[in-house]
Amino acid sequence: MQVTSNPNAAGGVKILGIESSCDETAAAVVQDGSRLLSSIVSSQLDVHAKYGGVVPELASREHLRAITVVVRQAMEQAGCSYQDLSAVAVTQGPGLVGSLLVGMTYAKAICYARGLPLVGVNHIEGHIHAVAMDAGSQLEMPALALVVSGGHTHLFEMRGDSSYRLLGKTRDDAAGEAYDKVAKLLGYSYPGGPILDVLAPYGNPAAMRFPRAKMKGNPLDFSFSGLKTAVLRWVEANHMDGEISARRQFLRHTPRPSVEQWLLLTPQRTRDAIAAFQQTVIDELLTRAEAAAEQIDAQSMVISGGVACNTGLRQAARNARLPYAVFFPTPALSTDNAAMIAAAAFPKFHRGEFGTLAMKANASLTLAT
Ligand code: KG4
Ligand code: ZN
Repeated sequence: MQVTSNPNAAGGVKILGIESSCDETAAAVVQDGSRLLSSIVSSQLDVHAKYGGVVPELASREHLRAITVVVRQAMEQAGCSYQDLSAVAVTQGPGLVGSLLVGMTYAKAICYARGLPLVGVNHIEGHIHAVAMDAGSQLEMPALALVVSGGHTHLFEMRGDSSYRLLGKTRDDAAGEAYDKVAKLLGYSYPGGPILDVLAPYGNPAAMRFPRAKMKGNPLDFSFSGLKTAVLRWVEANHMDGEISARRQFLRHTPRPSVEQWLLLTPQRTRDAIAAFQQTVIDELLTRAEAAAEQIDAQSMVISGGVACNTGLRQAARNARLPYAVFFPTPALSTDNAAMIAAAAFPKFHRGEFGTLAMKANASLTLAT
């Protein structure tokens, strides 16, 4: 491929990011790795909500439908033409292969047509770089990164822009997946994380205690399947069929209930269970993140990914008064977006780490072992 890298394009290095790894089609333009010029996210939530999770084939089709408009809007919002760009960055993996291919093919087509360099970015690395828009320059190394989303619960040691060491990860469900599964079994809609987060403050987390995972081997690994089963056992023991089917029934007529409507459908004992579940997830995440940070003598911590939107987790991290700064991306940049992909591509652009038209989407790409 003929590549014309143009770092002196008007206004510094502008990178167009494209993200399509799961159920969000996103494009964004970021200047010099940290200045957000535009960010467009087209969500497929309504398409998947009735299935209680993402349906891969539907996701690919929706990406195809949305990608052209989303990229055009991102360019317009940034006030950019293709001549102003220095590169196009795209999520290479991990994710759903059909979804990844849409973004990858679109990014390659732009690069081919415009003679721009292509930068492949790991989705998890993208989540970590979402803080660059806020805090990048103050991120002191070594840093501890906790990436916690619907597909990932990973702890990494970060040294500089490109060096990662995996310290721990989930052995079963990701934390966001646990939120989504628990919400589903309780009769709430998808995705469950935001709903349970909003309801949790109305319950008493001390009213019951769910088990914490005891990890054999690496104590920095996570496990959430036992917690999910404990909630299921609690539901069975409390004969909640009527209550749960009332919520499911309600959802059929009102796909997006308000908080007030959810509260009317949620008795106190269920609010308490939600609060106790959320408390357990937060404890599991923060105790391991703090232990990992101590192990590597971290000078800062990054918590990112969809679950980083959680208000209880943010509050608990603040209350912990840790001896280093803890950075969360803004909620809009915590869930899947393309600005994080463009930001993560910036150091790679400087190192000249460009892909070719032969670059492949990789559904199980890893960041570090
Ligand atoms: O990062 P993301 O948008 O996509 C993945 O890469 O997975 O994360 C989506 C996940 C879902 O599981 C969703 O339930 C969870 O993030 N999530 C939350 C909150 N907002 C989103 N979990 C807990 N509390 C929230 N406020
Ligand atoms: Zn993600």
